[in-house]
Amino acid sequence: MKVNGVLNLPGDKSISHRAIMLSSIAKGKSYIRNLNDGADLQSTISVLKACGAKIDNSNKSIIVEGVSLIDPKVNLDCGNSGTTTRLISGLLCSQKLDFVLTGDNSLSLRPMKRIIIPLKKMGCDISSNNNLLPMRINAKGGTQSINYKIPVASAQVKSCILLAALGADKPSIIRENIVTRNHTEVMLNNMGASVSQKDNNIIVKPLKNKLNPIDVTIPSDPSSAAFFAALSVLNNNSELKINNVLLNKTRIGFIDVLKKMNCNISINNNQSNNGEETGDISFRTSKLNSVEVGSKLIPAIIDEIPILAVVAAYSNGTTVFRGVEELKYKECDRLHAIIHNLNAFGINAYEKENSLFIEGGKPKNLSKITTFHDHRIAMAFTILSLTSFGKYRLDNKSCIDISLPNFFNLIDGVSK
Ligand code: S3P
Repeated sequence: MKVNGVLNLPGDKSISHRAIMLSSIAKGKSYIRNLNDGADLQSTISVLKACGAKIDNSNKSIIVEGVSLIDPKVNLDCGNSGTTTRLISGLLCSQKLDFVLTGDNSLSLRPMKRIIIPLKKMGCDISSNNNLLPMRINAKGGTQSINYKIPVASAQVKSCILLAALGADKPSIIRENIVTRNHTEVMLNNMGASVSQKDNNIIVKPLKNKLNPIDVTIPSDPSSAAFFAALSVLNNNSELKINNVLLNKTRIGFIDVLKKMNCNISINNNQSNNGEETGDISFRTSKLNSVEVGSKLIPAIIDEIPILAVVAAYSNGTTVFRGVEELKYKECDRLHAIIHNLNAFGINAYEKENSLFIEGGKPKNLSKITTFHDHRIAMAFTILSLTSFGKYRLDNKSCIDISLPNFFNLIDGVSK
């Protein structure tokens, strides 16, 4: 296979969720272009609409008119989306609402204790199915400020608390062990809230006034770009340029890892967009070395580990990712899913002491991909299968719609 061309990708999923949520409670009309077109965003939009949000998503440019959100009359179905569940919980608490959250089979297995503990400390009344969904949160009594050290590296947990703290009585302080994506902080400040950072402490003040509306074009999702990066570095005589990719440092750890693996990458046209850095990135065919990735970098590559594991399968030597526990709590147990699929394609990969080991070489057997209904597992192993065998078989193709429904058309458009 050979890939060549220029790609424009849908907007970053994390920023898209935040843009829709925050503009729903802002003062006046917000305009959002290049919103991520995956099913997760549809979950956020329908959940907010059930709380009275005015979102016109009938056109490419989405218009959100800020309102005072109201108690939903129905359960809020978050579908497959952990980001919707955890961020909406914080947002609706700040609005003093009473609501029930549900999700699909995958989401109903994902841990919610990580948000239940801090939200209870802030005064919310919460009942759940043993710390899993369905979960009822009653924030009618309002939220109190919190001083909280987050025990896991999670931007969803951090954002949940940040959002709930907007409705608190006094400023709150949040500490994280390892820095995670900071889009909530960036967007809140951009909309007139006060979120500051002093050493390891994030200090968020309650909102005195409604947030200002936004007018944004969301940059291309680096987590989607990572699949095309892999496609171009792994295939002969290939080069892809991806335009206007989000370059926030908390998100592009995969570029650092690929560079350490000797990948041929260049970044041009650097710009700033509503407080977020962007640029055009070119990826070219590369001869790959193995790499050891320390646990501190894991949050900055958390969603890219499936595709980086695929790249590692073609490298010279054994690649190690340290401190990968959080992979177990994603849309599926991704640690298991990565090892299972690599092994099925004839690559030796295993877990030892919370680290993922991948012995590079070349995939030997064409295998049917077991997606575990997880979009990123499906896309990562499609890239592997196409690269080595020119074809693929998936046990579930439609799960890709969660973040990148156009995945196959985009590949067709650049491959020869
Ligand atoms: C996200 C945070 C990460 C990431 C997820 C999106 C976000 O989850 O895996 O896809 O938008 O805040 P965790 O915070 O659970 O690590």
